[in-house]
Amino acid sequence: MANTLFKIQLRAFDELELSLDLDSDGTIKSAQLKGVGGPEMLRLLEDWRPRLKGSLAQVELPVGSSGPEIMLREILMKARGDWVEPYAEEELCHCRAVPTPIVRQAITAGADSPETVSRWTTASTQCGTCRKDVIALISALRTK
Ligand code: FES
Repeated sequence: MANTLFKIQLRAFDELELSLDLDSDGTIKSAQLKGVGGPEMLRLLEDWRPRLKGSLAQVELPVGSSGPEIMLREILMKARGDWVEPYAEEELCHCRAVPTPIVRQAITAGADSPETVSRWTTASTQCGTCRKDVIALISALRTK
């Protein structure tokens, strides 16, 4: 795998991009980690750029729950082929017509409970059927 690009962009928020050049055995020949965002993003870039070497499978994953850490964890898991999309439908809340990317964005930006997601996005504020999906997304994005 050569020059594989993984990218996450949050509308009006942060952006993180990882470009990898890998040997056939999964060893990182070169890695470029670029990001746009605030101080947390700048700290993440400074902390993690030196760690992106050796075997991709053995690069540690960020364990924190800041937006940039959530984004990098997802990107690294995607690069390894370990990422399982926690909720695949385009729209998460059908009553309020809230798209899944909006819910994901809220969670990455700091919404750590279904109540906060509801306040920020209006998802799960009517019939409540989608609440379990909001909880699943919070769990998948914040604690993987
Ligand atoms: S589907 Fe989200 S509140 Fe009904």
